[in-house]
Amino acid sequence: MELKTNIHALRGEIAVPGDKSISHRAVMFGALANGTTRITNFLTGEDCLSTIDCFRKMGVTITQNGNEVIVEGKGIEGLKEPTHILNVGNSGTTTRLLLGILAACPFHACLIGDDSIAKRPMDRVTKPLKQMGAHIDGREEGRYTPLAIRGGQLQPITYHSPVASAQVKSAILLAGLHAEGTTTVIEPHQSRDHTERMLRAFGADVRVDGLSVSVTGRQTLQAIDIEVPGDISSAAFFLVAGAIVPNSEITLKHVGINPTRTGIIDVLIEMGADISIEHVRNEDSEPVADITVRTSTLKATHIGGDIIPRLIDEIPIIALLATQAEGTTIITDASELKVKETDRIATVVSELRKLGADIEATEDGMIIHGKTPLYAENTVVDSYGDHRIGMMLAIAACITKGSVTLQHPEAIAVSYPTFFDHLRMLQS
Ligand code: S3P
Repeated sequence: MELKTNIHALRGEIAVPGDKSISHRAVMFGALANGTTRITNFLTGEDCLSTIDCFRKMGVTITQNGNEVIVEGKGIEGLKEPTHILNVGNSGTTTRLLLGILAACPFHACLIGDDSIAKRPMDRVTKPLKQMGAHIDGREEGRYTPLAIRGGQLQPITYHSPVASAQVKSAILLAGLHAEGTTTVIEPHQSRDHTERMLRAFGADVRVDGLSVSVTGRQTLQAIDIEVPGDISSAAFFLVAGAIVPNSEITLKHVGINPTRTGIIDVLIEMGADISIEHVRNEDSEPVADITVRTSTLKATHIGGDIIPRLIDEIPIIALLATQAEGTTIITDASELKVKETDRIATVVSELRKLGADIEATEDGMIIHGKTPLYAENTVVDSYGDHRIGMMLAIAACITKGSVTLQHPEAIAVSYPTFFDHLRMLQS
């Protein structure tokens, strides 16, 4: 598709769609709970629809009416052996959390996903789940999809995760809910804590002690009503757009500001962005706020260490932000980017270079020299099927002189189906 370039202003107010991580968990935990879970502002992106589809195939009644989803819980032991393969589409969260749930189910299930999922490492969850007693096999000894799993009686474990990953942590905790005894996950850095918060809201006892999280098995979950906050990872594209497009002022309403996700706000502030956070409030188990950003003069920064898991999905758009900051921005400790929907170090660098950015890849991040005007001469860029690369390029085009075509824009529907509508609204 032809992207709009050389935009003169982005102004107005939008409510970004519901949080992807929270929407997945609401359906999954709702399915495991006793009673009916009502979810509002559910993200109807393809990833979360994959989660709904998988649970329907295991006998869970789920009604979806726009952004409202009703899950008729089956109780922690109520899922049924699926007669069909569970298709996780493009969704790493569906795959990994589902494996944690299936590890305790005394039946057989097969998981398959798209070409991107087939390249993503699953041994980070299959290894600890096998230690707990699940039988899992798959391509390359259970490292990749397609995967076959037969769950059953589980032993609790104490697992020192080599990566700060909420998907790994959540998979083990979900398996631990069925194990006899206490299961503990210890992370190298704090990853997003939506599982811990939401399990508690469903009535589970979850103990957190620094980087260690424990659950005791054989607990029951009680259905609740959940209003999903706006996804800060989707808001990030417009937070950056507001800062780098001239004459802009964008307000994003009802955005989740869970501290394990707000690295993007810290970086914007550190780089000098004109940003304000208003109406901070707690909704259900998550904090939300309205965020306004205006065109800003930006300076470079260093991003690495503990902050990385707090902004891992925002690094593509932060790379674009850094092209418009004075000085050299260095991103380190981010090798996890290589195993996302694409190798995001490679795809960010190759596509931004096509627009004239001065950016280079390193082993665990990137180095970006700014400030660089972006330009294009009938340039073709590609999302490579990665939603966040597609959206980053659409925002890059806003500050590019010339004409840019985006290949595979449809990938954006994975997490933000109304992205281009919102971009258009802010231009008028
Ligand atoms: C997610 C965790 C993160 C993130 C992904 C969603 C989740 O992945 O990148 O988009 O919902 O738990 P990791 O846990 O692998 O870092």
